[in-house]
Amino acid sequence: MPEGLERELATYESRTPRSKAAHARATARIPLGVASNYRAYDPYPIFVRDGKGGHLHDIDGNEYIDFNLCFGALMAGHCHPAVVKAVQHRLSTGTMFGMPHDLEWELAEEICNRFPVEMVRFSNSGTEATMHAVRLARATTGRDRIIKMEGGYHGLHDSVLVSLKPKASEVGDPNFPNSVPGGEGVPKATLQNTVVAQFNDIAGVERLFAKYPGEFAAVIVEPIMMNVGILMPDAGYHQALREITRKNGALLIFDEVKTGAKLARGGACEYFGIKPDIVTLAKSIGGGFSLAAFASTREVMGLISDHRVFHGGTYNTNPVAMAAGLATFREVLTPVAYEHVARLNKKLVDGYNSELKSSGLQAYVVSAGSNGALMFFSKPIHNYRDWLTIDSELWRQYWFAMANRGVIAQPYWWDEQWTVSVAHTDADIDRHLEAFAEVAPALAKAQKEPRVVTAAH
Ligand SMILES: Cc1ncc(COP(=O)(O)O)c(C=O)c1O
Repeated sequence: MPEGLERELATYESRTPRSKAAHARATARIPLGVASNYRAYDPYPIFVRDGKGGHLHDIDGNEYIDFNLCFGALMAGHCHPAVVKAVQHRLSTGTMFGMPHDLEWELAEEICNRFPVEMVRFSNSGTEATMHAVRLARATTGRDRIIKMEGGYHGLHDSVLVSLKPKASEVGDPNFPNSVPGGEGVPKATLQNTVVAQFNDIAGVERLFAKYPGEFAAVIVEPIMMNVGILMPDAGYHQALREITRKNGALLIFDEVKTGAKLARGGACEYFGIKPDIVTLAKSIGGGFSLAAFASTREVMGLISDHRVFHGGTYNTNPVAMAAGLATFREVLTPVAYEHVARLNKKLVDGYNSELKSSGLQAYVVSAGSNGALMFFSKPIHNYRDWLTIDSELWRQYWFAMANRGVIAQPYWWDEQWTVSVAHTDADIDRHLEAFAEVAPALAKAQKEPRVVTAAH
């Protein structure tokens, strides 16, 4: 372990004794002491007390500028006043009915105005949205197999819990990557139906369509892969996916759970000028509440109207989440907000770039919309297999060193990225960059020290 990382971990432990105790207590009753495996990391995670705008406090009373923002679900920032106001009203007029109400079509209209879709159904998480999207694609085509990208993440249901983070020893032939279960309990039959291609490899997708003619219901893809830091598609990649899927009678599913609200008003569809067959949305569309959606054409969604595909859910469109979503679309994710966030993100990226130059740290910065990431590679990565070579110990030094200086630079884990929210200010970006200026020289030094690099797994 780099000496610098050891020092930062010691500082972290001295600043966060209450988090340590809380985690020890929680592990007795809750596996890993956390509610989602992504929240568990060594030596223990920061336990949160409260958050407001672009900041949060931990239970030891430390304040942080928060660029994690619930894994990118809070472009609105914590407790956005418009969202809080909309939700507060609903708290005294009924929080769930399991009956239809007017907020549903209002939010459906907002989504159809921004995305190239005609009908919408709502759910509560990205996992649900992609699960229904895949099922709709299967029903539309009468086919079972889907293609997903190696290293892509689409939530936790069996069909997509395949090859999210396979080890280097598991990935197999680059032309025909293995379908590797993302943990035990994924049925073997599912693995046969979820076939894997490498991101940015159009020839690979063509090979799969040639190998299984007439068998694929859909290609599901994150328009920008955001579960390996930030991995941009090659120019023309999505256009090519669009053509291949159309030619082969398969649907193209854009999983916009991360990109939907944060890349542009009309998400990746607008950003890349693509009309996929199905779009899935979640995270930042809810402004801090659990809200998700899947949307498509009248024809595809008509399968639900015709009672051929089933979709339901007790918590769907509960008025609290819907009011939060409407306030988010109408009052938070405004053109002015996108300009504000783009300006701040550019300032952050420019600051990182100049610090990389002066410190000599071998890394690069990449950004898209309100997201960005410091990528610990000497040249831009092109697919998941490139990402596997990341120096995870150096990344850990970066994350803990920033946290020790009051900046949660991004969610913990080197496959994530930062989010700039509408609530962040120039002063927040200045503080972030001041912290990085303190941290970068030590990272550059650690990078030069002889040691065995612990890569991603
Ligand atoms: C691209 C993508 N799809 C789906 C999901 C699953 O969303 P949820 O965690 O709301 O189930 C995520 C979560 O990070 C995601 O990044």
